[in-house]
Amino acid sequence: MRRKILLGITGSIAAYKTLELIRLLRQDGHDVQVVATKSALHFFPVLTAEVFSGHPVYSDLFDPACSVRHIELARDADVLLIAPVSADFLSKMALGLADDLLSTLCLTVTCPVLVAPAMEENMYVHPAIQKHRKTLAARGIYEIPPETGPLASGKEGLGRFASLETIRHSLKTKLMQNERWSGVRVLVSAGPTYEPIDPVRFIGNRSSGKMGYALAAASAARGAQVTLISGPTSLPLPPGVEVLRIETAEDLGISMDRLFPEHDICFMAAAVSDYRLDRPHSSKKKKDGNTWTLSLVENPDILSGLSRQKSPGQFLVGFAAESDMNPEKLLEKLRKKGADMLLANDISRPDIGFSSDENEITLFHPDGTSLPLGKHSKIVLSNKILDEIEKVWRCPAASSNGNKDQPNGNAPLSD
Ligand code: C5P
Repeated sequence: MRRKILLGITGSIAAYKTLELIRLLRQDGHDVQVVATKSALHFFPVLTAEVFSGHPVYSDLFDPACSVRHIELARDADVLLIAPVSADFLSKMALGLADDLLSTLCLTVTCPVLVAPAMEENMYVHPAIQKHRKTLAARGIYEIPPETGPLASGKEGLGRFASLETIRHSLKTKLMQNERWSGVRVLVSAGPTYEPIDPVRFIGNRSSGKMGYALAAASAARGAQVTLISGPTSLPLPPGVEVLRIETAEDLGISMDRLFPEHDICFMAAAVSDYRLDRPHSSKKKKDGNTWTLSLVENPDILSGLSRQKSPGQFLVGFAAESDMNPEKLLEKLRKKGADMLLANDISRPDIGFSSDENEITLFHPDGTSLPLGKHSKIVLSNKILDEIEKVWRCPAASSNGNKDQPNGNAPLSD
């Protein structure tokens, strides 16, 4: 498959290897357009890159040839691969700075983005870089991890530019993954619901929304069309995701019922309040020295309602946050709710779950089989979940594209 690859080159010594990368990608049939940062220009011969790619190498945002083309470059790209990405450029991406052509393109593109870091070990393991890696991962940006080996300084360590074969393979699997997911419509509910007691008070829960937001980001990064119905959270919205904000379980139920028929896969990740006040106060209740008793009624189970209206081909995923991870009871919950998959996590553990960036999930299938996905960041878990869905669910759109026999495989992700 011929794809338009925007190859970003930044100021790392490993930039000299990208000449061979351009040659290999051209050999694979791709169209390669190089965009280099100013410091990258010190590390590779521009003319040779131009001959190998068959295009001018762009660098300066204010060069008239680039400034006219930069919107076009972003619009036409099937993938943006930044290889090597330096510590400086990785940090810029995480912060959203845009002071040259390549960093501007990072904010403009809507295609998948892959980065292959290359730097000294001390730089790579520095807390600042580790934090930025997590930020990028949460936005659905794929990292082709560096290897351990000889570094430019002469030392051995982690931070060596991934092999060209690894980069080529990661790119290929990412492009194939995008073929499979493009056109797939994913609906995700996330976060808590707030049930009003009076105009200022509410009943809520500890859900941060991070798991649902990570699923939305991971799905969008694969090229799916994602709608996120979010309860109150202050999380940044993943790029390329449409959001609808709700507060109460009732509003969530109405939106889910309305949007579910237009979607192929639905993740019911919201922590829906099981109860609401039967009659919320219309004005703020004042203290009066007496005990205040609230009368609560049960909210309808949205997930069960969706499973009743599910059409053939739709795939419904439920969650279970439990203090008792009894597999029998979890399977019973999966079947009772009519979901096609249940993702369970243990809320008795303080190190994972609700507001944590990490989680440990066990995945249950309706046939009684289960798969422990391990403890990972929520974005890594999301990708593992999507990989598992790829195995059991065939997107009708993907089958008609003739993609159904493509092997499963994902670009490595940062953990
Ligand atoms: O029954 P339990 O709350 O453990 O079920 C959790 C799953 O059910 C989650 O997927 C959650 O989003 C969904 N749920 C729902 N409506 C409710 C309560 C939970 O859809 N009222």
